[in-house]
Amino acid sequence: MKFLLLLVILTVCDASPQDLSGKMFTFPQQTNTARVQITTPTNEFNAVTVCHRSFTDLKRDHILFSLATPTNSNAFLIFWDETNKEIEPHIKDKKSEYGGQDYKPNMWHSVCTTWDSTSGLTQMWFDGQPTIRKFVSSGTSIRGSTIIILGQEQDSHGGGFDLKQSFVGMMSDVHMWDYVLSSCEIRKYMDELNFTPGNVVNWSALEYQITDRVLVENKQTTCY
Ligand SMILES: *[C@@H]1O[C@H](CO)[C@@H](O)[C@H](O)[C@H]1NC(C)=O
Repeated sequence: MKFLLLLVILTVCDASPQDLSGKMFTFPQQTNTARVQITTPTNEFNAVTVCHRSFTDLKRDHILFSLATPTNSNAFLIFWDETNKEIEPHIKDKKSEYGGQDYKPNMWHSVCTTWDSTSGLTQMWFDGQPTIRKFVSSGTSIRGSTIIILGQEQDSHGGGFDLKQSFVGMMSDVHMWDYVLSSCEIRKYMDELNFTPGNVVNWSALEYQITDRVLVENKQTTCY
């Protein structure tokens, strides 16, 4: 038993950072288990920027990014709502809604979402275009032990997954900052130019743990 426990601890601690530049996570089937948990030591956020690219053909609700704390399972969440055809950033369990995006299947989409606790405003960028700045939640930071998961939506801290909200497809270039990125930096990210990598989650030095069938594969975009 003790040995088993030690093994588990070793496996968890062995997540040395990987450079995933040019790579992607492939989520090849619909389950309520397959996921990537990203490790970060940061447990308080007065502001947030999260960027990611994703590729899917799902025609139902699905999760793009799920960050939970013990008190807020939707502490910072990016969700596609199929019924209302909108991308929904949730911050501290409060939802904002962005409709009118051309979220086509079978192509890469770049999404960046910012929020800061002073103004309480959130803004999303979709394939290079900014949305309007909306009020969602102000006054208090996102605080407490942070669990970041790709592929599944957390209804509790690190669990409560729902098959019908899971992500199937590919994800890449996931970055997170504990500040609001300037619009110039966001543009650079969107255009795949050089930008400042995330200081909370850095795709070029990613500490993560895969559960069940998720693959790390090359993201091939150019033929020579
Ligand atoms: C991100 O990772 C790269 C590669 O390890 C490193 O050079 C860079 O300094 C990191 N950036 C941040 C902000 O941590």
